[in-house]
Amino acid sequence: MNWRVPLADVQLGVEEENAVLEVLRSGWLTMGAVTKAFEEEFASFCGAKHALAVTNATAGLHLACVAAGVGPGDEVILPSLTFVASANAIQYAGATPVFADIESLDWLCISPASIERAITPKTKAIMVVHYAGYTCDMPAILEIAKTHNLAVIEDAAHAVGASLQGRALGTWGDVGCYSFFGNKNMTTAEGGMLVTNNPEIAEKARLLRSHGMTTLTWDRHQGHASTYDVVAAGYNYRMDEIRSALGREQLKKLPAGNMRRGELVTRYRELLAELAPEVLVPFSADRGQSSYHILPVLLPEGVEKQAVMASMKAQGIQTSWHYPPVHGFSIYRDHANADLLPLTQTCAGRELTLPLFPTMTAEQVAWVVEALQAAIKER
Ligand SMILES: Cc1ncc(COP(=O)(O)O)c(C=O)c1O
Repeated sequence: MNWRVPLADVQLGVEEENAVLEVLRSGWLTMGAVTKAFEEEFASFCGAKHALAVTNATAGLHLACVAAGVGPGDEVILPSLTFVASANAIQYAGATPVFADIESLDWLCISPASIERAITPKTKAIMVVHYAGYTCDMPAILEIAKTHNLAVIEDAAHAVGASLQGRALGTWGDVGCYSFFGNKNMTTAEGGMLVTNNPEIAEKARLLRSHGMTTLTWDRHQGHASTYDVVAAGYNYRMDEIRSALGREQLKKLPAGNMRRGELVTRYRELLAELAPEVLVPFSADRGQSSYHILPVLLPEGVEKQAVMASMKAQGIQTSWHYPPVHGFSIYRDHANADLLPLTQTCAGRELTLPLFPTMTAEQVAWVVEALQAAIKER
């Protein structure tokens, strides 16, 4: 469909084209010098001791769970208001996802009080999700984790470039994972990065990323090793050089892109307050530096979301829903007590995601808000 305003857009230029061509011409296509450079640059960007490029954030979260000691019989607490990959990664590790509620209809991240209520003797870890690129209450969550001796895994898929008290989201817990999927703030088409300051987690994740092998093809090509042992039944979650080349260029563009997203969010807030004051724009409080990955709003109670989406679509404006709560899906229904997730339920019914991408113009923002205003009036 030819949208007047799409939900998201990518910024790929001649820099990415040249970087990819250089890899193709080099003759070395998978995890090698370019991936190593990407990992080093990314680690330095977010102030982490270790960064491991992976196939995607879902694979990274799986590695994070296993490397943080999550296994069969364990429970991991996470928000239900997330993409299903967060919960699936816990399942891959053989553990059970336990869903917690969000803080409020203004702050759509996991609630520390709800985490505390969900803790049982089987709880092994907390997986937080920095929804839309806004920070969870990390000081409170780390305190709970310390008291109950739990690992903290950060699903920072939305939060590349975001921070709290000057410390990058993704580096507050034991291990964090970012996504570079095609609609993220920086992209490698498919891809992700695991970061940690814990050398044992880094070592375990490194081994498991490549079949549990003690040396890699690249080490042998460089003459650093001639054979290998296999010390764990690992996975193939490796990144290739083409995507790493893309990632290095995208990382350079990320700060300007995030800043532009922030300016657009400010403009949205002004226009929504003026033209559609009945629409709630979450994350109004001042807490840390967001990456502004998406722009969620809450429709007035009683306004049918599907009808608003259809009306906006008719005006050429793409909207979305982040997210159908995970506890509602057939596979997870039996895990959850929906009565314990009242804010998630309310939010999910009313949440609508508006277009947001760095090349969006102020005029496009106005079109979106005017279309939303008209769609709500029609109801
Ligand atoms: C919150 C969240 N977690 C995890 C993922 C999974 O990321 P990937 O597609 O890189 O596996 C996504 C992807 O959209 C996400 O939004």
